[in-house]
Amino acid sequence: MKQILRLTAAFALCALMAACTTRGIQEPISKTPTMGWSSWNTYSINISDSLIMRQADAMVETGLKDVGFKYINIDDGYFGGRDMESGQLLIHPTRFPGGMKPVVDHIHSLGLKAGIYSDAGYNTCGNYWNRDTIAQNVGLYGHERQDAEFFFNELGFDFIKVDFCGGTAWQNNQRLALDPQTRYTAIHEAIEATGRKDVRLNVCRWDYPGTWVSDVSTSWRISGDISSRWQSVKGIIAQSLYLSAYAFDGHFNDMDMLEVGRTMSAEEDRTHFGMWCIMASPLLIGCDMTNLKPETLQLLLNEELIALNQDPLYLQAYVVRHDGDTYVLAKDLLEREGLVRAAALYNPTDDPIVISVDMAELCLTGEVKVRDLFARRDLVPVAAGGTLSLAVPAHGCRIVRLEAQGRAERTLYEAETAYLSSYQELYNSSVVGSAFYQANDLASGRMVATGLGGTPVNDIRWRNVYSDKGSKYTLTFRCIPNARSVTPAGRMGQASGGSFYVAVGDGEGQMVRLAGTEGVVDVTVDVTLSAGDNEIRLYNDRGAMPDIDCMILN
Ligand code: GLA
Repeated sequence: MKQILRLTAAFALCALMAACTTRGIQEPISKTPTMGWSSWNTYSINISDSLIMRQADAMVETGLKDVGFKYINIDDGYFGGRDMESGQLLIHPTRFPGGMKPVVDHIHSLGLKAGIYSDAGYNTCGNYWNRDTIAQNVGLYGHERQDAEFFFNELGFDFIKVDFCGGTAWQNNQRLALDPQTRYTAIHEAIEATGRKDVRLNVCRWDYPGTWVSDVSTSWRISGDISSRWQSVKGIIAQSLYLSAYAFDGHFNDMDMLEVGRTMSAEEDRTHFGMWCIMASPLLIGCDMTNLKPETLQLLLNEELIALNQDPLYLQAYVVRHDGDTYVLAKDLLEREGLVRAAALYNPTDDPIVISVDMAELCLTGEVKVRDLFARRDLVPVAAGGTLSLAVPAHGCRIVRLEAQGRAERTLYEAETAYLSSYQELYNSSVVGSAFYQANDLASGRMVATGLGGTPVNDIRWRNVYSDKGSKYTLTFRCIPNARSVTPAGRMGQASGGSFYVAVGDGEGQMVRLAGTEGVVDVTVDVTLSAGDNEIRLYNDRGAMPDIDCMILN
C-alpha cells in the first residue's frame, strides 16, 4: 500500500513538472519554497546593475545554483520615480544606467530567475525609512496593470515582493491606510492579467495577514524585518511556531531573508538555516555571495537540509513537544503518514541542554534510523519504542531525518497545529472577533486556541486527521472554559463551560456541551472516519466556544 502511495506521489510530481510552458520554453512548475538571493540584508538601497549581476554570477560559480538556489531578487533601491504623464515606472538613472532589461537578461542567461520589489501603495519603505526620496509614486497603487505588464512581460521578471509602507498611514506622505486584502487581491489579479502563470507573489505585510493570503500569493512575511542578531532569529522562529496549518499546497510562511554568513556565530547560523529549512520558509540568501566564508558555503550547500525545505509534501514542521523553553518540531517527508520524518530539537535558551523525544510521540514504530543532517552522518538507531536524546548547544538545534520500520496512527492533535478559518494577526482579534492561539499552562503543549465561535467562519479545523483503514473512533476534546463561553445554570440544567458542534468533513455537526465550568474539561464524541485524511471541524455559529487544548483519538 505504502509502495503504491509512493509511486502515485512520484507520478503526480512528474505530471506537474511536465505540464507548464512559459513563453514557449518548457518550464517545470515548482511549488516548493522560493530559493535564491535578495539584495536587501547586505546592501539596503545601495544597489546597482553591476552588483546584482556579480551576485548572479557568484550564485553559479559557488555551486549554489546546483543545490537549488535560483532567484536573484532585486529589493528596494532601484526606483527612478514615475513619469506622471504616461504613468511609466522609471529605473534609477545612476544605479541602473542601462535600465533593467540587461540585468534581467543576464540573470536569465545563467539559467536563473529574476525577482523584483514594489509596494502596495505609492511609496516604498526605503522612501520612508532610508530617505530614498526618488522612491515616491513608484508603488503599484493605481498602476497595477501597467506595472505588471512592465515587470513581467516587458522585463521578464519571475517573482515580485510587494511591501506595504505605502499602505500604512504613518509610513507614507498621503497618510493612506489601505486594506491589505483588497490591495494584494488587486495586485494578484493584475499579475494574472499579464498571462504569466509562473510569477511568484510575496506579500510583505509583517504579520500573518489572514487566511485569504494563500489564495493570492505563494508566500507571505509573518514578522517585522529580520536583523543579523540571534534575538531577531529567535523571535521570528517563535512567531512561526504555530503557523504550520497555514503552509500547504505550495503556499508558505515567509520567515524573511537569511542573515546566514553575516555576523552571527556559526551555531546561530546553523540554527537559523536549519529551522528555515524544516519550517519550509523561502530561503533567500542575504549575504554577499562573492565573498562567502567556507563554513557559510558549506552550510548553504547542505542538500540534505535543503531537501527538508523542498520536500514535495510542502509541509511546515509543527511543534510536537514543548518542554521548558525547548521545542521538538516534526514533519513528514516524501509521503504523508509514511516511514520517513524530519525532526528538529530546538534550544533557543542561553544554556546547553539535552532534548529528548519518544519515538511514540512521533508515531514511529520499530527500530528508527537516525541521520544527523548538520553533521551529515548516521547516528546510532533508536530501538523500538525508544527515545532519541541529543545534546543541543545554546542557541542551537539538531535536525535529524528519521526512518522507521512502521508508523502508528497519530492520536494527539493539538489545537495549536489546527487551522483557524478566521486566523489573522493584523488586527486586534478580540475586536474583529477572530480566533487565535494563546499560551495556557493548563494545556498540553501549553497552548490553546481561543476566541472561537460566534460566527460560522470562526471555527477550528484539523484538516488532515488520518485513519489508516477507516473505522469508528471516540474523539476526546480537551477544553478550557473561558469568560465568554461559560453559561450560568438555567432552569433546566447545570451551568456549562460552553458548547460547540463537531463535524467530520461536510457531515452534520454533533453538539457537545461542557459539564464543568473550570479547569480542563473533556467532552467526547463518537465518529466514523474514512480511510486516509479526514477533516474535523469544531464550530458554534452563534455562541462563544470554550478554549480548545487538543483532540485525542481512540
Ligand atoms: C521593508 C521590508 C524589507 C525590505 C525593505 C525595503 O522593511 O520588510 O524586507 O524590503 O522594506 O525598503
